Amino acid sequence: MYKVVSKRFLNEARSICLFEIEAPLVARHAQAGQFVIFRLDEQGERVPVSVAGYDREKGTVTVMVQAAGRTTRMLHTVAEGDYILDFVGPLGRATEMDGLKKVCVVGGGVGCAIAYPIAKEMHARGIDVTFIGGFRSADIVILKEELKEASDRLIICTDDGSYGEKGFTTVFLKQEIERNINEGLPQFDRVIAIGPDIMMKFLAEVTRPYGIRTIISLDPIMVDGTGMCGGCRVIVGGETKFACVDGPDFDAHQVDFDLLIKRAAFYKDEQDAAAQHICQITGGTRHG
Ligand code: FES
Repeated sequence: MYKVVSKRFLNEARSICLFEIEAPLVARHAQAGQFVIFRLDEQGERVPVSVAGYDREKGTVTVMVQAAGRTTRMLHTVAEGDYILDFVGPLGRATEMDGLKKVCVVGGGVGCAIAYPIAKEMHARGIDVTFIGGFRSADIVILKEELKEASDRLIICTDDGSYGEKGFTTVFLKQEIERNINEGLPQFDRVIAIGPDIMMKFLAEVTRPYGIRTIISLDPIMVDGTGMCGGCRVIVGGETKFACVDGPDFDAHQVDFDLLIKRAAFYKDEQDAAAQHICQITGGTRHG
């Protein structure tokens, strides 16, 4: 059993909640870009969620969870001091950072919760970090202060202009790339994008003509996170990969986004039915 040490909602809409979980073994090995799988109780489904932070001395791991399905909504009701049944990890490969000097990290919505620890770790390693965080509106903006501390340059934008700049992340990414060119500044040697598939698809098209290596994280389409269910299958460079064991990071310029978006739509449509379905492999249901 794993104790919920602390808990706090991250935005006005109370749609994303941060949990600090006592899990010393996970905390000892966790790195930015990896994920864990939690299960609330014996009957509960297994839900993958990205590692948002860890404290090796305290033996705790932080996760930020959006209330998107039955289980994640139930998790939001768990109180400090309560316990959850399983908290397994860290899983997946850590985000590659070696040799990087200047990076632009782009997060869309709850994707900022996944992008934040990556930016934080890079910033701590002395990498120049520009962070672009995109949200629909002011009430769902998260991590305002944390992102400031984890970046050298921060742009928060909202679709409706109710907080920060008005506009989409694609516009500001292009603007920052052009700024580097026009002002004779070093160009980004990597862009890391995490958020809705459609956003990542268009961000990849922004960087492609400039030849900037672009990495996306595919956590959102995971199902059981073990490499067994095939739910996170993605085509990269013409080859079949599994986000949970081969990723979650992949080269955005090689990813078949159309297939990815089609599969995500399928799972979304199936969500209600899946909540009733008992999986033969995991013993759980399909969506968090
Ligand atoms: S999530 Fe099931 S194979 Fe990756």
